[in-house]
Amino acid sequence: MIPTSTLTEARSPLASPHIQAELTAGLCAAHAHISPKFLYDPLGSKLFEAICELPEYYPTRTEAAIVARYGAELARAAGAGATLIDLGAGNCAKAARLFPLLHPAQYVAIDISHAFLQDAIERLQQRFPHIEMTGLGLDFSSQLALPDIVRNERRLFFYPGSSIGNFTPDEAIGFLGRVRAQCDADGGLLIGIDLVKDSATLDAAYDDALGVTAAFNLNMLRHVNGLLGADFDVRQWRHRGAFNGAESRVEMHLEAAEALTVRWPGGARSFARGERIHTENSYKYRRSAAVGLLEQAGFAALHVWTDPNEWFALIYARPIPNA
Ligand code: AVI
Repeated sequence: MIPTSTLTEARSPLASPHIQAELTAGLCAAHAHISPKFLYDPLGSKLFEAICELPEYYPTRTEAAIVARYGAELARAAGAGATLIDLGAGNCAKAARLFPLLHPAQYVAIDISHAFLQDAIERLQQRFPHIEMTGLGLDFSSQLALPDIVRNERRLFFYPGSSIGNFTPDEAIGFLGRVRAQCDADGGLLIGIDLVKDSATLDAAYDDALGVTAAFNLNMLRHVNGLLGADFDVRQWRHRGAFNGAESRVEMHLEAAEALTVRWPGGARSFARGERIHTENSYKYRRSAAVGLLEQAGFAALHVWTDPNEWFALIYARPIPNA
């Protein structure tokens, strides 16, 4: 029998008033929602790493296969000596695969989870001691202000894994426009975008047999408990992840398994059985729409590499002058 004291969740300090207000507004909305950025506490980042290993979750391995197959072309297009800026670096594994191809002068890894990033950079610096490396713990989803330590020459932004799909198309254009604004004339963008495919493949990728994606989604409630002082009981919630063809996106929700009330200092929200909290959208694009998204943000797609099934696209884009 496990002593009850070991079951008590370790409480980290509550989040800033700004974050608390954001969470409260989402929880109290008619259709409750929590931003997907709250999926990534230290455990959430590890669970996402595990998702990337799952047979059902094709994006990571498909993108890696595209890099392996078209690496030489990519190296010719992007050239050596860039300032490689990795947006949402996580464990930095995807960027590390590019080092032998692109030989960057500086590597800047940016992620919302700084603790997770620091460990990854320390390990990477040992493998590639000649590359100058910096880790920045930033939430770049709403603004992208880079500190002076980031070189302003040949900035190559790297946004892999189809994280762009976690924005709505309008938000994605806004975000890519902010990346474009930080690009010098010789800079560029290397971005992974997930493409529309059959719904069975998409459903399985976001609701895997082992339940790792379920744990990833449910862990958000533990994270919110820590940030808001809320009392979500994870056992009262179910993971839902499925493709919504009309919206061209996979949606993740958390569904109340019974009628319940969640409380936090200064607030509460009751949920009926079956009521949901919307936690993530993952938009899937047609190839032409992906290129159009980049163009609307001021980038010209110079190369679009895909896998034989056309499940995923890796795109190298350059800023359109004066866009
Ligand atoms: C980070 N992002 C691109 C992932 C996705 O596929 O939308 C997050 C994820 N959600 C569930 N599984 C993976």
